[in-house]
Amino acid sequence: MDIEYVRSRFIKHFDGKTGSVYTSPGRINLIGEHTDYNGGFVFPGAIDKGITAEVRPNGTDTVMLYSIDLKDRVEFKVNDAVPPTTSWARYIYGVVQESKKRGVEVKGFNAAFAGDVPLGAGMSSSAALESCFAYALNNLFGGNKLSQWDLVLIGQATEHNYCGVKCGIMDQFASVFGKNGMLMRLDCNSREHAYFPFDLQGYRLVLLDSVVKHELASSAYNDRRANCEHVVAALKRKYPEKDIKTLRDADWEMLESVKTDISEEDRKRAAYVLAEKDRVLAVCEALNQGDYETVGKKMYETHEGLSQAYEVSCPELDFLNDVAKACGVTGSRMMGGGFGGCTINLVKDELYDSFVNKAKTDYYAKFNKALKVYDIVISDGAHKICD
Ligand code: GLA
Repeated sequence: MDIEYVRSRFIKHFDGKTGSVYTSPGRINLIGEHTDYNGGFVFPGAIDKGITAEVRPNGTDTVMLYSIDLKDRVEFKVNDAVPPTTSWARYIYGVVQESKKRGVEVKGFNAAFAGDVPLGAGMSSSAALESCFAYALNNLFGGNKLSQWDLVLIGQATEHNYCGVKCGIMDQFASVFGKNGMLMRLDCNSREHAYFPFDLQGYRLVLLDSVVKHELASSAYNDRRANCEHVVAALKRKYPEKDIKTLRDADWEMLESVKTDISEEDRKRAAYVLAEKDRVLAVCEALNQGDYETVGKKMYETHEGLSQAYEVSCPELDFLNDVAKACGVTGSRMMGGGFGGCTINLVKDELYDSFVNKAKTDYYAKFNKALKVYDIVISDGAHKICD
């Protein structure tokens, strides 16, 4: 993102003064999908696409925002009880409120921001926006007293309380904790995390963006979470002596034992989650051994599970997965919440060009849509760029 561009818009749309510039990235996820809100493992990395914002306290109690990409202006008061109706501004309003709840004395500010995370592509543009502002407000009004985890939780609470998505913590975690050249394995139960160098020998990771985003994706997402919670409730009833909090605390035998207490749909969803938990651990082991064939095999298994059991894929993503398979690509799967967005593909260097070209041609022939291709560059998390 071009900082001078953001700065020139900030100067133009406000009072000619400069502020501090912050940036925060979107994310990819190698494996571990729909596991975060089930207390499982995820394997994300921050990317070189994100949100960049210039922010300056304005000495009033009004927040004045300008979205450079949408050429749209919104204002609200720091203490307004009702969120703005404009959807992008709700995220920033949410971050203001959630930062205040955690003791940051947010006052009025001017901000202009722009982004290059493709919207609706499953690369977490909303987490990038939340983390960018959470970081900025903590820096400008909180004396940096909040921890990185606080910033993550501010973003997640914004989604839950102001945007209607009951998301887990993966996206905000990746956006805040990302490190240049490193993927991260996060245990969403204990919040322990470890950095893994992203250094694929002879392989590349590439995203193919289906450029579709299906309606009702967020309500379907919340439905999946509810499926998992039904199973947890049944397990709690069956095993009152065990301290079951999420599906992380369940095993196959336990799931089988509550089969008649839950719907078949709930059972299928939980079976996917249990299998995915094992796959992430297998992938970590395989990465440590440099065994990319196993990594790729697990990615295909994840896709199959997300498509058939969790039912969050769509014809476009299934098609792209089939093209990858037919081209002999080592691993491929849909990435993120689903119902559109990207596939993530682990491709041998020598196959890259032929695969990407075939995917583009076949996708256009089938859906009459131009596929977008993003090479992955793993980058740093939220930070301040300059004053
Ligand atoms: C979305 C959510 C995340 C996570 C993924 C699926 O990106 O925001 O919390 O649940 O979907 O893995």
